[in-house]
Amino acid sequence: MFLKPANRLRVKYWIYLTGHCKKQKIICRHSCSILLLTMNVLITRSLPQKGLDLLKAAGCNVTQYTEKRELSPAQLIELCQGQDILLSSGPNHIDEDFLKACGHLKGVALLSVGHDKVNLEGATRYGIPVSNTPDVITQTTADTAFLLMLAVSRNAFAMSRSIEQGEWHFYDPTANLGLDLYGKTLGIFGMGRIGFDLATKCKAYFGMNIIYHNRKPRTEAEQQLDARYVSFDELLQQSDVLSVHAGLSAETKGLFNHAAFAQMKSSSIFINTARGGIHQEEDLIKALRNKTIWGAGLDVTNPEPMREDNPLLHMQNVCVLPHIGSATVETRNNMAVKAAENVIAAIKGQPMPDILNPEVYSKKHAG
Ligand code: DGY
Repeated sequence: MFLKPANRLRVKYWIYLTGHCKKQKIICRHSCSILLLTMNVLITRSLPQKGLDLLKAAGCNVTQYTEKRELSPAQLIELCQGQDILLSSGPNHIDEDFLKACGHLKGVALLSVGHDKVNLEGATRYGIPVSNTPDVITQTTADTAFLLMLAVSRNAFAMSRSIEQGEWHFYDPTANLGLDLYGKTLGIFGMGRIGFDLATKCKAYFGMNIIYHNRKPRTEAEQQLDARYVSFDELLQQSDVLSVHAGLSAETKGLFNHAAFAQMKSSSIFINTARGGIHQEEDLIKALRNKTIWGAGLDVTNPEPMREDNPLLHMQNVCVLPHIGSATVETRNNMAVKAAENVIAAIKGQPMPDILNPEVYSKKHAG
């Protein structure tokens, strides 16, 4: 198979039908058993270099959207035209409208574990495999929950602000008092990888008793951590610290509302490092103001970004972080590598290692 000169200009890489992907400096003139493809990959944010290096080594033609603002749905659709794979970083909606306009994509690799913005059933219908980045974010995200629970229990953010505001005048043994966590009860809502890791840390460090509510009991947690499966109501009523580690879904949206906070102990701490949509912000603010609960630590808000005049930011018993759960150099590199590996698998026509809709590989598609 010979190439037209125009194609020679455009094409930098060859992908062998065997799936082996190799950079070529010359245009091949040998065999028609060689298929020529240039794979265009759109990345919707800056990607850590390790991921970029992998994609480039695999011969991908990478386009990055690096502007410091969100893409509108229309812009995302427009940018995906002429692309083969989307590496989606940030809150992009992979919904029916997107899928209809971008059914040509050979894969969508998310740079996150959460996939609440993706219509997976629709992606399957359009024959688009979708992957995420599990495992590599587990410990770092659990660390963020640990950081928040400790920070809230000692009012750490407000204490720091008080120095800036010139309020540190003398030592008062009855002021600035927090709560100890030793021997208290940690309630995990969603005993997946991150919930399990947080429970392990809290058991080891604070000797906490672990209770949890999940779609189904997790024997590993019961055997290794002596964790006890409880109903949602029992979780609310018995937890000293209640930490959310579930995905956002129709089932969990707004679940932590007035009725839920009303069941919690007045000395309890609410932590959410999963998705802001799982708690009702207005109800949380009221519960904190009325001292229905003792404090809250949030790495996720609704909406994101949080506005700077949000009352939660100025409350003594609240610590808010700007969705930095997985934001360490090491973890972001690992996520980028994982996402790139999923992209490369899709390019090779192989199953994505972290596929979220495996049925895509066996179903007939809408095209
Ligand atoms: C995740 O991986 O889901 C994190 O929340 C980043 O979006």
